Amino acid sequence: MKIASVIGTRPNFVKAAPVSRALRKKFDELIIHTGQHYDYEMDKIFFDELQIPVPDYHLGVGSGLHGFQTGEIMKKVEKVFVEEKPDLVLVYGDCNSTLAGALVASKLHIKVAHIEAGLRSFDKNMPEEINRALADHCSDLLFCPTKTAVNNLDREGLIEGVYLTGDVMVDALLHNKDISAQSKIIEERGLKSKHYIVATVHRQSNTDNKKNLKSIVAAFCELSERIIFPMHPRTEKFLKRYGLFDDLRKKVNIIKPLGHIDFLKLINNAKKILTDSGGLQKEAYILKVPCITIRDNTEWVETVEDGWNVLVGADKGKIIEIGNTFAPKRKQRHVFGDGGASEKIVKIMGDLQ
Ligand code: UD1
Repeated sequence: MKIASVIGTRPNFVKAAPVSRALRKKFDELIIHTGQHYDYEMDKIFFDELQIPVPDYHLGVGSGLHGFQTGEIMKKVEKVFVEEKPDLVLVYGDCNSTLAGALVASKLHIKVAHIEAGLRSFDKNMPEEINRALADHCSDLLFCPTKTAVNNLDREGLIEGVYLTGDVMVDALLHNKDISAQSKIIEERGLKSKHYIVATVHRQSNTDNKKNLKSIVAAFCELSERIIFPMHPRTEKFLKRYGLFDDLRKKVNIIKPLGHIDFLKLINNAKKILTDSGGLQKEAYILKVPCITIRDNTEWVETVEDGWNVLVGADKGKIIEIGNTFAPKRKQRHVFGDGGASEKIVKIMGDLQ
């Protein structure tokens, strides 16, 4: 069986690494990189560090408005699918590359498999919510990380081809955690384990909204703990545009986006995490680092239900109060699986051949 994996963003790369390792034991894999992320720190470093095979195709689409970016990927990926005739197209998560790959494959009657299927934040203002729901409805195989995800699909009438596999991010974390122990980021940055907060902000609803971004910056400037902030290029662009960058830099340790190995070491040793990322809420949970989420909703509801993640929106007062005081009290359930999701996914694909 020939499988074409379509990937394009940083979170796709992290998930594709363990899946690709498992896939290649049984099938032929073709990697199509859309080029949605392209800066060295957002792209190439992940392929190098996580030993993801060099893409067979690089579509080089780059940035743009959602319609433009999704459309460019669709035009270019269609040509590759027509030429390569894969038996199955594999997409990950909820970015524009996910939707474009799933939509084009389904229109060409190529089977689609979606990893991280069934996630819902129930917030249609998030471009990711549209991407994940539409990708699910284009898919023949829906690999769900959690029971909640299976139930979400069930409510939408998606029952056939739905599999509860556990989360491939657990596979990635278990594989990369030991490697990350070698990272020297803590010493290099003059940090002390469990004496700093890691912050990341890149969600469109926070970065492209001056009121929210101003409120987040004001809160970060007043938090008592030292903050280290690996900054997404989108966030840097908007902070500069709104004249907020210099204020933030005076109080917060802003650094370039990190490779995955340094980043894992950094978060594993953090006292708390402040983020609007989806994947990071889950990584924090798995590593047992308290997480404060700068959003009003989350698709990773289990992390909140278990009391290890708290939603504070972009509210300055809440970020400061909860940021200074939050300490999880409850034990975690075992919700994201045991690290064997990639192998399970490959086995299911093999059984269906
Ligand atoms: C995308 C995903 C989001 C995911 C995130 C991880 C969508 C709709 N969103 O958001 O779900 O959480 O990736 O980072 O697909 N840019 C650069 N260099 C890069 C990449 C981006 O400078 O390598 C800048 C550009 O100014 C670009 C902006 O960031 O316009 C947004 O990039 P884009 O890939 O469109 O979305 P993300 O915000 O990264």
